[in-house]
Amino acid sequence: MKRHPFILIALSVVTTLAAVHTLGCGAARSARSLAADKVYVAPGEHDKYYGFLSGGQSGSVFVVGIPSGRLIREIPVFEPRAAYGYAMHESDPRRQELEATGGLWGDTHHPMLSEKNGVFDGRYLWINDLANGRLARIRLDYFEADRIIKIPNLQGAHGIAVVSPDTKYVVVNGEFEQPTDGLTTNPAPYTSVVAFVDPDSMVVKFQVRVNGNIDIADTSKDGRYAFSTVYNLEQGKDMGSMIQYDRDALAAIDIPAAEKAVAAGRGVVRNGVPILDPADNPGLLTLIPVPKNPHGVNATPDGRYVIASGKLSPTVTIIDAHSLKIVAEPEVGLGPLHTTFDGRGNAFTSLFLDSQVVKWNIDKAVAGASDYIVDRINVHYNIGHLQAVGGDSTHPNGDYLLALNKLSKDQYVPVGPDLPENQEIIDISGEKMKMLASFPTPPEPHDATFIAASVLKPIVKQVFTLARDAVATGKESVVRTAPHAVTINMTLIRSAYTPDSFEVREGDQVTLRVTNVETIRDMIHGFALPDHNLNIALPPGYTKTLTFDAGKPGVYWFYCTNFCSALHLEMRGRMVVQPKDSTVTLTDWHAGANVKGQVVAGVPSTGDKQ
Ligand code: CUA
Repeated sequence: MKRHPFILIALSVVTTLAAVHTLGCGAARSARSLAADKVYVAPGEHDKYYGFLSGGQSGSVFVVGIPSGRLIREIPVFEPRAAYGYAMHESDPRRQELEATGGLWGDTHHPMLSEKNGVFDGRYLWINDLANGRLARIRLDYFEADRIIKIPNLQGAHGIAVVSPDTKYVVVNGEFEQPTDGLTTNPAPYTSVVAFVDPDSMVVKFQVRVNGNIDIADTSKDGRYAFSTVYNLEQGKDMGSMIQYDRDALAAIDIPAAEKAVAAGRGVVRNGVPILDPADNPGLLTLIPVPKNPHGVNATPDGRYVIASGKLSPTVTIIDAHSLKIVAEPEVGLGPLHTTFDGRGNAFTSLFLDSQVVKWNIDKAVAGASDYIVDRINVHYNIGHLQAVGGDSTHPNGDYLLALNKLSKDQYVPVGPDLPENQEIIDISGEKMKMLASFPTPPEPHDATFIAASVLKPIVKQVFTLARDAVATGKESVVRTAPHAVTINMTLIRSAYTPDSFEVREGDQVTLRVTNVETIRDMIHGFALPDHNLNIALPPGYTKTLTFDAGKPGVYWFYCTNFCSALHLEMRGRMVVQPKDSTVTLTDWHAGANVKGQVVAGVPSTGDKQ
């Protein structure tokens, strides 16, 4: 049979097209699976890194596994959080601390890890509250905020940094200017301060006055200088007057010079903190002119340079970190905000307006070579901070980079007008950057830092060490301490409260001291008391003491909020509030002395000893 040549040609075209199509599909699929392979962490396996993302106006820190992007935990800091029983009750010391220092919300921007010899040691993470001028310290053995301070003489605690290489201070920049003496009657231009906080005592040791809005912070790797970008040298009070000058500054504070001046009594003490004025202390402050309204500042891992990003200029300014001289000002793209590093001589700068990360070679840019741009990758969308794993230490890992994008637009299933934030994980191990994965977060991470799981794992505790005021098993009691005051000393263990009932009288002030006496990991018990605004979550070994009003007469069932065993639902007890005029005699309860309320033997759920 003779075939028409056209049919043959058509057939072969179809076959070729099909082959090309299959090939293309296969290539795309294999690119997908290669990317997936770089971020996939199988069930039961662990991520290589802990990522700490600031929670922005949620006032917390998000702990994210890298490379999986899985949200592992939230560490509440400046905001009460029922999920963790954090600062929930008005008598909770942490809540009182929050209220005394600025309120029950915060705006966290920059998570900073403690350093030893220039690398992260896993002791502490600091986080700022821009809104209320606060600094919090998180203990990484417990993943719990342990100190929160209000920084005096400062408003808008924005950029923070630890002084390398051994965390001599935590630097906090005051972004919002204030009248110099704090008085509204002062007609002099507003100024602000950079605060130097002792990392152990969390005491503000001294402050250095700087004119303008003090923005992002970093320090030289040798600990000599604290660097801050400063915009609005015009000292204007509205946007138009803030962008008059062509150049603003990178401020370099000579830390040893500041210490000497403080020791010599050259500071003016205000609110207990000596403030050094650069006008009276020559050499203390160097202002390096950089294109107007700069934003990020980042020291290179080798300590040679510090890089200020242009924001309103398409350039970054590379400054010698020792001589403080500008060595180059290469163009990188529109809206450069922050820079991070791979440890192989490359810098990665976020471009807010271009929605890109640009990779460029530092030595080539300094030498004035034309081919310093290595690669560009699109991000989605309008990136703010970016951070490569270890890029903020002396030993970058050079594998993953996180792009923290301000807008997600079309990237997720629509969830109403308020869209999630979009974080993107980029592979920076090769010459070209590769987009690997994205994950959404609640609003609104600004910045991130990472530490190897291998560093934190031996440090992180699974059970709290019993506090001095912990209630011991067998020492539970209900004691009337005053005519209208009752103290309950209670223990929790699967799956019972001891005592499991107590009686008080209307008008009583009830003090509840409660200890979770579990010694097994992940055995968290709750204590929720209806109609008393009382909700506590107690990890193993944890003790909490709260004081509350007995409330209206009635029977109130307290119950466990955290699933703990097959008898979790049965883990409850009663607070009986007798009327004021009740004739019932209330007797004190003591462990072993009273059958009523004796502990039901703990019911093991998993037997999972650590
Ligand atoms: Cu204890 Cu549920």
